[in-house]
Amino acid sequence: MPLHGRAVKSPSAVKAQKTKLQGPERAKEPYAARAWKEQKQPVAAHLGTVVEHLKAQPGHALNGRVRAPGDKSISHRALILGAMALGVTEIEGLLEGADVLATAEAARAFGAKVERQGEGRWRVEGFGGFAQPSGVIDCGNAGTGVRLLMGAAAGYPIATRFDGDASLRKRPMGRVTGPLELMGARFETTEGGRVPLTVHGGALKGVDYRLPVASAQVKSAVLLAGLNAEGPTTVTEPEPTRDHTERMLRAFGAGVEVTDTPEGRRIVLTPGRLSAQAVRVPGDPSSAAFPLVAGLIVPGSEVTVEGVLLNPLRTGLLETLCEMGADLSIQEAASAGERVGDVTARFSRLKGVTVPPERAPSMIDEYPILAAAAAFAEGPVIMRGIGEMRVKESDRIALMAAGLKACGVEVEEEPDGLIVHGAGCAPLGGAEVRTHGDHRIAMSHLILGLAAEQAVTVDEPGMIATSFPGFVEMMRGLGAEIAACPS
Ligand code: S3P
Repeated sequence: MPLHGRAVKSPSAVKAQKTKLQGPERAKEPYAARAWKEQKQPVAAHLGTVVEHLKAQPGHALNGRVRAPGDKSISHRALILGAMALGVTEIEGLLEGADVLATAEAARAFGAKVERQGEGRWRVEGFGGFAQPSGVIDCGNAGTGVRLLMGAAAGYPIATRFDGDASLRKRPMGRVTGPLELMGARFETTEGGRVPLTVHGGALKGVDYRLPVASAQVKSAVLLAGLNAEGPTTVTEPEPTRDHTERMLRAFGAGVEVTDTPEGRRIVLTPGRLSAQAVRVPGDPSSAAFPLVAGLIVPGSEVTVEGVLLNPLRTGLLETLCEMGADLSIQEAASAGERVGDVTARFSRLKGVTVPPERAPSMIDEYPILAAAAAFAEGPVIMRGIGEMRVKESDRIALMAAGLKACGVEVEEEPDGLIVHGAGCAPLGGAEVRTHGDHRIAMSHLILGLAAEQAVTVDEPGMIATSFPGFVEMMRGLGAEIAACPS
């Protein structure tokens, strides 16, 4: 039987509204400013100064074992599905970065009861639908948060206003509003189809949609909307993208069939209700990439990152690094569901490679750190078919090209590609890199700085906490010299 979205005011929704109103100061302040301050404070408190820049100093071998923070993609999905489901979803290992915390706040605004019970331990009590939120859903810097929530909200007869920070306001949303409109949702968007935007949902019809770009966020938005549509929803993806939504929907009791066809991977979702499940979030391979690459490029290093998600749709970077001659070893751990393991990286002499463009979806967030690693390789690392990099938290092709050039590396920028000509030795470094508030641009250049000839400085270090709140402390624990620079 087709299930149409329910919009009722649950007791927890009412409570959530009250909670929001209890903090008028907090509510008045835009999310980005708040997140920026909150992220800056732990470092500032620790050092007794206001941190405007971080500087990574070369010269220290890195050694030790660390644990990757929870996977960002799975953390967003656990909160969203938990909020849509009926019952209590207990989550372990949730990433407590600013992006995911914004989604937790959104889940609350849609009527779920969301409680933090301890480090990474969260309890989400859903009532089996989304209630009309009382205010704007501010997703901060998070493309995943806003796009998946737009899909989920479109399934219910509610009107939801979404917004985000300056970076999110520049990112394309037409890729999500397009298919959701085909299903019957209505949108009022800002010029260019961007946020702030309002979704009017409910009474959707299932759709047969072929993704024009390889995007797990778009696929997930359509599937989440399809849960509350009339009739099945089919998504075909030309290149397989991360499949966390399909896996988690199945675990929450939804009917999901996946087949490989000549046109690509085809996912058929049967509408239905979700029932709450326990979710254990594995370590994020996109975050693990930073200490691992540091282990490969800093002479004398050996770094192990424990508990890394090894889903084959996320391991493109590890594959590429192995082709570059990286000394990487993987100790797989027993786990229910996803493949997980401890990954060890030892200092290696890297060589240039051509990364197959069809590998891009399995490492799309890892190209910035790959580009940093490529600066140390002998021969060019050729990365093509990565135009999507230009519409991430920043234009990552342009910013990596600029940052690497400033560090003395020869780089060629193409419309949808980047070629890094490593000289087979440490690059000069010594640059002050402008990150445009992009966490991965900041971390990639700091890692480069640990092995360059001269220190590298990055601005807006607070934004690192969107995906990797303990990054600086973790790297210091391995022996890295990363210091705050007062403004
Ligand atoms: C994500 C998908 C990717 C990735 C993002 C997380 C997800 O984005 O870059 O960081 O969780 O679905 P696209 O779907 O835009 O490729």
